[in-house]
Amino acid sequence: MRFCTERRRFLFFLPLVFFLPNLLSLLELHHDLASTQPDKRSKKFDHLILGPATGQGLSDRLQCSGTKALNNTHLPDTSNSADSGDSIHFVTVFTIYNASQDSKVIGRSTDVVKVGDASYNKVERSMAVLNVFINFIQVSMPQSNVVILTDPASDLPVRRNRVAVFPIQGEYSRDTLMLQRIRSYISFLDAKLDEQRQGTTHINHYIFTDSDMAVVGDLGEIFHKHPKFHLALTFRNNKAQPLNSGFIAVRGTEDGIRRAKTFLEEVLKIYSSRFMKASRMLGDQLALAWVVRSNPSFDARKFSKPETFVEEINGASVLFLPCALYNWTPPEGAGQFHGMPLNVKVVHFKGSRKRLMLESWNFFQSSSSISDMLCLILSSGRTKYDF
Ligand SMILES: *[C@@H]1O[C@H](CO)[C@@H](O)[C@H](O)[C@H]1NC(C)=O
Ligand SMILES: *[C@@H]1O[C@H](CO)[C@@H](O)[C@H](O)[C@H]1NC(C)=O
Repeated sequence: MRFCTERRRFLFFLPLVFFLPNLLSLLELHHDLASTQPDKRSKKFDHLILGPATGQGLSDRLQCSGTKALNNTHLPDTSNSADSGDSIHFVTVFTIYNASQDSKVIGRSTDVVKVGDASYNKVERSMAVLNVFINFIQVSMPQSNVVILTDPASDLPVRRNRVAVFPIQGEYSRDTLMLQRIRSYISFLDAKLDEQRQGTTHINHYIFTDSDMAVVGDLGEIFHKHPKFHLALTFRNNKAQPLNSGFIAVRGTEDGIRRAKTFLEEVLKIYSSRFMKASRMLGDQLALAWVVRSNPSFDARKFSKPETFVEEINGASVLFLPCALYNWTPPEGAGQFHGMPLNVKVVHFKGSRKRLMLESWNFFQSSSSISDMLCLILSSGRTKYDF
């Protein structure tokens, strides 16, 4: 790999969604523990730990025997989304950071961890997560494309089929990353709007995601099953943070792109005016929730049931998708945990679960079974790993 041979340049990769969810989940954990018991920081493991799979005996949840799935989670798709001619682009923000601007991480960046047969330093771990993110997309949705939004100053060593790097000028310092991420989304949508206006007939839908996610099902179907929405968000039953910013889908029509852009501009405005103190981690989620809830007709009780619904928010038709299917992650701390729905589409390796993401990919490569791999994730997802 190129960055190994260019030691002098010693770049530090900061995948946006690599560190921030780490901090975020620490906060969430702290919050959980504060209300239940004194803090006892659990040990972080450098190898897979399997526990019991939750949700056993529930008919709509994945049933496992060890890492063998008793249900087939991937039945043939009858919606024929591949026939529609529309294509899906996954868009993620990922940036290389110059180590000399962040002296604290230089020391740590030489730590090496092993996953399977491979060893990774801090930088390589981030790249490995990005590559596994792409791998899962290419297995689950081989017709889709990946776009990596990045700082023009960074030089990502990503050369893969159906993957494009899209530089966007901005302020990518660690303190303003989440803010920059929304700005990058807006700039990207702006560029796509220009393309639309130049008369492209082909429709590309966009799904903005964190890069610590595994796409394990077909997401094209949301655009067919729900033909009217402009943008889609994922929600969960959590009063303080009902919306996760790690998944935002945008319909690729001119109308969809324009309204999604206006919606994100409002989120950016609220973020800048109200949540700058939280800019390093939670700000975007708090601003998203603010924009949604400040709509007078919005009924927040809808967040308590994991069922898809649509609401008009600031002129955009917003589809709300349950995190349980589209952004599945086992809760940390003392949260309720009822297993994994059979038709889960996206697994989010939040916080200290990046190792599990890489281990899951390795497991999938040897087992060729997404269902079995989901059993591995289900029985291991509450363990805290070393990265
Ligand atoms: C999942 O597998 C279990 C165990 O074989 C079975 O009892 C259950 O009916 C299956 N669920 C579905 C929805 O097929
Ligand atoms: C990293 O930052 C230093 C100091 O700001 C600068 O001299 C160097 O050129 C930068 N390297 C890269 C690769 O951007």
